[in-house]
Amino acid sequence: VTPTKAMWNRTPLTALLQTAYPIVQGPFGGGLSSVELAATVSKCGGLGSFGAHHLSASAISDVITALRAATSKPFAINLWVSNEDTGASAMSAADFEKYAQQLKPYFDELDAQVPARPESFSYRFDDQVEAMLQHAPPVFSFVYGIPSSDVLRACKARKIITVGTATTPDEAAAIEAAGIDAIVVTGFEAGGHRVSFLDTAERSLYGTFSLVQLARKRVRIPIIAAGGISTANAIKAAQLLGADGAQIGTAFLACRESAASEVQRSALFSDLRHHTELTKLFSGRLARSLRTSMIEQWHTSKTPAAPYPVQSYLMGKLKEAATAQGRPERMSLWSGQTAPLLEHKNAKTLFEALVAGASAA
Ligand SMILES: Cc1cc2nc3c(=O)[nH]c(=O)nc-3n(C[C@H](O)[C@H](O)[C@H](O)COP(=O)(O)O)c2cc1C
Repeated sequence: VTPTKAMWNRTPLTALLQTAYPIVQGPFGGGLSSVELAATVSKCGGLGSFGAHHLSASAISDVITALRAATSKPFAINLWVSNEDTGASAMSAADFEKYAQQLKPYFDELDAQVPARPESFSYRFDDQVEAMLQHAPPVFSFVYGIPSSDVLRACKARKIITVGTATTPDEAAAIEAAGIDAIVVTGFEAGGHRVSFLDTAERSLYGTFSLVQLARKRVRIPIIAAGGISTANAIKAAQLLGADGAQIGTAFLACRESAASEVQRSALFSDLRHHTELTKLFSGRLARSLRTSMIEQWHTSKTPAAPYPVQSYLMGKLKEAATAQGRPERMSLWSGQTAPLLEHKNAKTLFEALVAGASAA
């Protein structure tokens, strides 16, 4: 009997995206994506992504233009459909002050000023989408919900491939029902935010392997597994369970091409990498970071975080000061659970190792 050796790199996902390999570099929001990282991965034959939820419409236009100049291969622009929680933009000066003062001991420790209330905390999703549509990137990926049918129709008209993100089987089914082209299913192992939208993040905590198998039963569109995948074996394992490809975040964040600071990247190779934790401390929304003393203190104190993105704004200011002073334990150190497996600090080398490993496995 001749064993049939299915080619791991020819899947419905590669057919849809027109990439050589079913490997997606996960987008990073909050200023941690870079054109260099996304373009490097796209040029290697994967899908590079740029997280743009924190950017203005004109900055998004500039990023797409820069990516087009850097690579002729497909790439993705990523936005957050819901980018503000109740009570954030309408927050009174007094409430803002209350949340800011909660963090004063940390600002004091770094000799930094507690920030004043900015005019606005985030950009409107509708304006961001308008800029995205105008420049028509090859792929538009998104989290925290499903864009309106008008937006999805406009993507189709411009031949923009859409990729939604699900944290539960129900969300996967809702994404397919909306007519979206492919879906990232992300388990709780993943670094960064839990991007649930049909229920709270706390009630939507599926492990990647459970979610891939359950989503496969519910949807026919290509599935991209995310969360805890940082090796070739994990890519193959996800494929065996029904995924058509994998999205890798933390392992690419650790590479020098990402826009993470040296302080943040080296934390992923430090002793801190052995423990991660889900916390609302850094943004007001549940997200996975390396565990630090600040997270432990915060959870013990039971202090409520400000609604997103107010908490995110405050902690972003603290992170600037902590980065300047080389204090990783005073900043968000987004990381998935498999940080201890990371070996590479160069995106091309990482990508080539994944391809070589998956081809050999
Ligand atoms: C620092 C950081 C920021 C992230 N920001 C986004 C984002 O803005 N949009 C998004 O779709 N996914 C975001 N993610 C999720 C990743 O794209 C990816 O799905 C996830 O990291 C995969 O899990 P892993 O970290 O275990 O590899 C982020 C992840 C990290 C680590």
